[in-house]
Amino acid sequence: KVIEGPTITSTDPSSIQCRKHQLTCIDGEGYIERIVDESDDDFESVRQHAKQTDQLLTLRPDEYLLPGFIDLHVHAPQWPNAGVALDRPLNEWLDTYTFPLESKYQDVDFAKPVYDDLVKQLLANGTTTVLYFGTTHNPANLELAKACIRHNQRGFVGKVAMDNPDQTPEYYRDASASQAVEDTETFIKQMIELNKTTSLKQTPVITPRFVPSCTPESLKGLGELAWKYDLPVQSHCSESDWENGYALEHYHKRDAEVLDEFGLLTDKSVMAHGTLLNQTDLNRFKDRGVAIAHCPISNVYFGNAVLPVSKLLKQKVKVGLGTDISGGYSPSLYQNIRQAVMSSRMLHDGVNSELDPAQRGTANDPISAKNGFYLATVGGAESLHLRTGQIKPGYLADLQVVQAPMPSFNEETMDQIFEKIIYNASKDDVKQVFVQGRFAK
Ligand code: GUN
Ligand code: FE
Repeated sequence: KVIEGPTITSTDPSSIQCRKHQLTCIDGEGYIERIVDESDDDFESVRQHAKQTDQLLTLRPDEYLLPGFIDLHVHAPQWPNAGVALDRPLNEWLDTYTFPLESKYQDVDFAKPVYDDLVKQLLANGTTTVLYFGTTHNPANLELAKACIRHNQRGFVGKVAMDNPDQTPEYYRDASASQAVEDTETFIKQMIELNKTTSLKQTPVITPRFVPSCTPESLKGLGELAWKYDLPVQSHCSESDWENGYALEHYHKRDAEVLDEFGLLTDKSVMAHGTLLNQTDLNRFKDRGVAIAHCPISNVYFGNAVLPVSKLLKQKVKVGLGTDISGGYSPSLYQNIRQAVMSSRMLHDGVNSELDPAQRGTANDPISAKNGFYLATVGGAESLHLRTGQIKPGYLADLQVVQAPMPSFNEETMDQIFEKIIYNASKDDVKQVFVQGRFAK
């Protein structure tokens, strides 16, 4: 396949590369093989050959090719509640709205239509790779992976482990620590089998829900599994005062230290939120190569805090973007890029300078649309060790075709076109999506 048209891709946290007219050539394995620029000698011959073999896709004049987005934090079972009860504090929201919903996935027939719809919605919004929390139930978790295969999305799926009887309801918890670990290992094996049937691999993920939900025994067993199978790990870390306080009270340690002690902070770990991480925690994340899933919409509600993205990027801590459905109400990473930028501006220019920035964000540290685009593409790809997120030879052809969301009324630079796309694009403007070179929308 050869896609003809303008391309926009992130190269580093604060730069984008825009090309007005090129041919993005995709090989049979779904990788970008070559990029032919209008100025290259063989542009016309490559174009003609693709056209004659019916492999040329020419974008409309107002369409642009962007990398697909990578969502580092989605609670798939919470999709039916997107937008519900976000005014409640985190632990009350979990107990009253979220655990009762998640417990329903014991019934695979309940799970199927939800997961089918969610995967379609995320793809329709331009998201080609997703790191998912499932529930405690393996049959439903497998359905989520199958929905990803069916709709052509690169999924990372975790069986949620939560066995602490003090912090989880009886109707929704793993029966014991050993059961939580055993079911996680079973899920890993089931995913290995499932992958034999597909070229678009789905990855199992070790998923302790968060420190309060788990016993020390299950955390220990899950850490051992992460090392045994060399798999990614996901959890929540330092999202809220309550969570931070729980670790201090029960372990006399910080949240990050507890996870590290059990071998759960590796260079394949992605920790959601991290808004309350201190510099010692961040050094630990850097030493271990742990990535942060920045969930800017959700952080407005539950964390009530702003992740200091700009500082993290300067310190070279890995950061990507997550919707945190349904702690975040929107499946769109466009919306989350916007919120990331807007939240980062809240403490700009010394406004609210009486706040202690160490507690609630960093003053004078705004980020840009380009920074946000970097998080949603390159940052996410690095966090998951994937060669995707950029339009570049040797990278996976995970791509979205986006129509300019409004007309041009005057001469515009590519930078201006880019900013208008980031700030105004909605699902309707995402015209086509490819994952590993194959149609997904
Ligand atoms: N901490 C533990 N579980 C959850 C969850 O489902 N959502 C969020 N935002 N935080 C959590
Ligand atoms: Fe979450």
